[in-house]
Amino acid sequence: MAIFLDSANHDEIREAIASGFVAGITTNPALLVAAGTVGLEALQPLCELVPGRVFYQLTTGDLNAMLLESQAAVAISPSQVVLKVPCSWDGLRVVARLSLELPCAMTAVFSPAQAYLAREAGARYVIPYLNRSTRLMGDGVALISAIAQVLNGNHCGGTEILAASIKSPTEAVAALNAGAQHLALPLEVIHEMARHPLSEMAIQEFRRLTQ
Ligand code: G3P
Repeated sequence: MAIFLDSANHDEIREAIASGFVAGITTNPALLVAAGTVGLEALQPLCELVPGRVFYQLTTGDLNAMLLESQAAVAISPSQVVLKVPCSWDGLRVVARLSLELPCAMTAVFSPAQAYLAREAGARYVIPYLNRSTRLMGDGVALISAIAQVLNGNHCGGTEILAASIKSPTEAVAALNAGAQHLALPLEVIHEMARHPLSEMAIQEFRRLTQ
């Protein structure tokens, strides 16, 4: 199980990595733009900031372009970069071509059928969008549960669920309980998960006794 920071913001990354319990980062084109950068040019500085895995999402759309972009991304830091490949026919073909040599994550997965194909293509991770699925289809937790059943129910492991689009601690825990092995979380959600009013109360109580 691993927590990945879902951000390309350098300050957030420094803080998350300094925590000691965040394993790496996940990015997508929207997160890169929000951090003031785009595409492959973002990757080198991100790999320098993060000791662990850096998920980079392909921005090109057809098979050959995606293969070229994949090569360029992995060349930046072969031991760190995980390719995030959006789920499409060509995306599946890219994963099938590269997954024997590189860890690939199939992202934007919105059905168990897609997750099954991703596994057959050799994806190391499938990435369902919990909150977005709830907003657009009704129940993102049920989607993760259905994907977990397809991936694990028939004892053919090897492909793990990295749940993304998580907006609250409740969604984070629901994703884990539904069968996700890993979480991609915004920094504010990680902070929120660490807090509880009763913990604060207990800390204050003990502090008063020792002051
Ligand atoms: O990185 C993928 C995921 O976290 C996207 O989240 O908020 O755009 O649905 P969101």
